[in-house]
Amino acid sequence: MSTHNLKSALKNPIFDLVASAAIQTGLETYVIGGFVRDHLLERDRPKDIDIVAVGSGIELAKQIAKSIGPDTKVQVFKNFGTAMIKTHDIELEFVGARKESYDRSSRKPAVENGTLEDDQNRRDFTINAMAISLNQHDYGALVDPFNGFEDLKKKILKTPLEPNITYSDDPLRMMRAIRFATQLNFNIEKASLQAITHNAERIKIISKERIVDELHKILLSSKPSIGFLLLEETGLLSYIMPELIALKGVEEVEGQTHKDNFYHTLEVVDNISQRTDDLWLRWAALLHDIGKAPTKRFSKKVGWTFHGHEFVGSKMVYKLFKRLRMPLNERMKFVQKMVMMSSRPIVIAQDIVTDSAVRRLIFDAGDYIEDLMTLCEADITTKNPKRFRKYHNNFQLVRKKMIEVEERDQIRNFQPPVSGEEIMKTFNLKPSREIGIIKETIKEAILEGTIPNEYEAAKELMLQKGKELGLKKVK
Ligand code: CTP
Repeated sequence: MSTHNLKSALKNPIFDLVASAAIQTGLETYVIGGFVRDHLLERDRPKDIDIVAVGSGIELAKQIAKSIGPDTKVQVFKNFGTAMIKTHDIELEFVGARKESYDRSSRKPAVENGTLEDDQNRRDFTINAMAISLNQHDYGALVDPFNGFEDLKKKILKTPLEPNITYSDDPLRMMRAIRFATQLNFNIEKASLQAITHNAERIKIISKERIVDELHKILLSSKPSIGFLLLEETGLLSYIMPELIALKGVEEVEGQTHKDNFYHTLEVVDNISQRTDDLWLRWAALLHDIGKAPTKRFSKKVGWTFHGHEFVGSKMVYKLFKRLRMPLNERMKFVQKMVMMSSRPIVIAQDIVTDSAVRRLIFDAGDYIEDLMTLCEADITTKNPKRFRKYHNNFQLVRKKMIEVEERDQIRNFQPPVSGEEIMKTFNLKPSREIGIIKETIKEAILEGTIPNEYEAAKELMLQKGKELGLKKVK
């Protein structure tokens, strides 16, 4: 038993209320799990605090609610034997100590009352099984039967029970292990890694929402590749995102090879994570090359090609989001757009950067132009320092030109300088094909640079095009 006293973790006055309620109800009470772990790691944490009572957690919650005030609500989840109180910005979760045996076909545990140690036994990792006593006789004492404190210092993830039992009981924990390893930069103990590999297939019984939740957390870590490499190594990734596994490997035909697009992708994700915390832009980096597996071809003339992979990839984004029950809304569309356009700035940067190419890029990317540039800069993973510098310099040129062109031509939120209504009035037209043709002609001329983005020039072109189409101008 540990002799650490962690009273210092209990400064929040809410703990005084919990401790009083423990005396009043006569229930042995502890704070447990993420709160204790993150306190020891000096890590900022979400304001959720898990309280375990030996006996009824619901009874304890009700007692605390009374002492906070008459308006305090207790949300009771009878089936699970848990309760929750929201007060100020804290979420207090209550549970009675349990001994659990799981039904193998699902994650639903068959619950039995137990001691604190029973409850700690059934938790996922030793670092998450530590509890701090809120009881009068040893208030603040760390209760740490599996030496989570040492594992925390050694930066190691280890299960309290034999790992095959812990992971098989709740396969989501395989994802949690990898997520914690990524977030905290911890190692997963060897026996645990083997057990994850052994049980990987059981991830199938976990809901997509919970898997995606963990994926988000991995992607939002400072170095997401740690997690994706572990997902790959343990076999989990092939159940979750086979599209990424398909990018793995280098093929050689007649002495010509292409890069390994799986490892390249992970580098891009790490790169972009140094520049943005935007989850969806990080998703875009993860998926930007997924179209390369189905479009890969070899020809003697040009070697390896991935023609149209951006288009194919953007279609795959929809399927992947749908399969993982992710939102099929504007966020997905954003990821699709990034994938679809992911080569555009690179193509421009390879050539002489013309004004019209830059105008078209700004026009097509709209408000996402900055995100697209961030993605493309992260995509530079060459190990050749000369080329690395050259590509970055080229992007600087594109950026410079973008500023110049945008100042002059204001393409970003392009509004046609001559409206459809004016075209209709000028030629006495009802809504018709001709209006579209004239508008398109004007837009094209502006993007090409044959006319400036100005009313007078656009009006003149409208009249000229109308004439060509055989339209008559009316006053
Ligand atoms: N737990 C577990 N198995 C799970 C989920 C949770 O054993 N599949 C236990 C762990 O003891 C964990 C606690 O329940 O510490 C609370 O879980 P949760 O709030 O999901 O995670 P935290 O550990 O608090 O971490 P985070 O807030 O970063 O998700």
